[in-house]
Amino acid sequence: MQVLSVTSELYPLVKTGGLADVTGALPGALKSLGVEMRTLVPGYPAVMSALENTVSVHTFQNLMGGPATLRSGTAKGLDVFVLDAPHLFNRAGNPYLGPDGKDWPDNAQRYAALSEVAADLARGALGSYKADILHVHDWQAALAAVYTRYRGGPKTVITVHNIAFQGQFPAGYFNVLNLPPQAFAIDGVEFYGNVSFLKGGLACADAITTVSPTYANEICTADYGMGLQGLLQSRRTVLSGIVNGIDTDVWNPQTDKAIAANYSVKDMTGRVLNKRAIEKRFNLETGDGIIHGVVSRLTWQKGLDIFASLLDWMVGTGARLALIGTGEPAIEDAVKAAAQRHPGRIAVSTAYDENLSHLVQAGCDTMLVPSRFEPCGLTQLYGLRYGCVPVVARTGGLADTIIDANDAALAAGVATGIQFSPVDGVTLQYVLARTAMLFKNKSAWATVQARGMATDVSWNRSAAAYAALYHSVIKNG
Ligand code: ADP
Ligand code: GLC
Repeated sequence: MQVLSVTSELYPLVKTGGLADVTGALPGALKSLGVEMRTLVPGYPAVMSALENTVSVHTFQNLMGGPATLRSGTAKGLDVFVLDAPHLFNRAGNPYLGPDGKDWPDNAQRYAALSEVAADLARGALGSYKADILHVHDWQAALAAVYTRYRGGPKTVITVHNIAFQGQFPAGYFNVLNLPPQAFAIDGVEFYGNVSFLKGGLACADAITTVSPTYANEICTADYGMGLQGLLQSRRTVLSGIVNGIDTDVWNPQTDKAIAANYSVKDMTGRVLNKRAIEKRFNLETGDGIIHGVVSRLTWQKGLDIFASLLDWMVGTGARLALIGTGEPAIEDAVKAAAQRHPGRIAVSTAYDENLSHLVQAGCDTMLVPSRFEPCGLTQLYGLRYGCVPVVARTGGLADTIIDANDAALAAGVATGIQFSPVDGVTLQYVLARTAMLFKNKSAWATVQARGMATDVSWNRSAAAYAALYHSVIKNG
């Protein structure tokens, strides 16, 4: 089976978050299941420079305002199609934002071009390649399902990684999309008088997935659906949740080269060396007390504004914090100011640093994820694998992947982390106090760590679920 995956991010070529990790790992995980997945990505500079064995598949004289070439090749071990359209994608830095931190003003054209080419490629209109399934990720690729509806092509699957990002543009943009007029309608891309790329994809795809079963339920409600809950309710029979896996080769404490010492659940001595390395790298005081870890976008979604307001209190409890993240200036400023007030106790790096994120998982005692909503979340899965006990909000994929260390779960020996709800300051204080108590109980803590490290967070089960979905979508065609 040939599946064309279409994405705006692909690890290890270009990454701003978990989407890249997922689209980068899925092709490898599907291989042994008889699914050949190739990935179409935009030709950002980082992608173009990694491209090997290239052949030109198709040239466009004018694709949304300039010439472009669709290339096929390999890049860092992945089979890719690359949309080499310099006028749209030859821009360094974050894929979505200009140097001023604002969305590129032509994002509608950029990702409509990606989606249109995806649909034409998948239906066999651009050379010899043809897909059995077109699998598109998030709003940036969502329109491919809409083009496919009107031009024909394979069955389509759309995965929602985060419903907060919808790709909404004023109605006038409809004219640049090369869609027939009837597509600007309630069963197409029209959404409250605007154009919504994600809504179009959700309306037109044959199957909809999101990245955890709990989030699949949540987005059908007004609290989480962000306006799309009605449409999703009407499509509930084709909506399912498949929890993300992680790349267990890239994230393996026994072999990881980005950490100070390797270790395994059988011999945790290396973990202590990573804690010392964290203290050194982050200029934290040395000691055996708890060090909380955060690796995150610093946004409202992640609940880190609430956490930032508790940092003085947290230091008073004796805890330390190593945080890496970038995002909203107000949250960045708040955590940086706390670090200045508490040198040796709170350390913050606003770098985007893949290697350092591995060290935080290997050396901190906890991985804090106090998200207000979380479609799946990957950092808690890395935490499980690294013995960095996840402390998470009970929402979305966090609810589905962590077993709370309440008395019953502790007694049964099945706990893998700590959960809390609701996400507010008082509850977060309470859960941090609970965490500190558990941390003091060394044998209970070690049991939770070991249970987490033994949890299967690989792609095995989820890749099989995607393969089964592709087969059922084709069969029920
Ligand atoms: P989201 O995609 O919503 O940001 P996820 O938990 O699914 O959340 O994925 C976040 C990914 O980005 C993880 O791989 C995490 O390690 C990584 N990440 C986030 N911030 C940083 C950072 N500052 N440096 C390195 N990696 C980061
Ligand atoms: C999104 C979500 C995150 C999820 C990731 C990969 O960025 O915010 O929860 O893990 O996509 O699916």
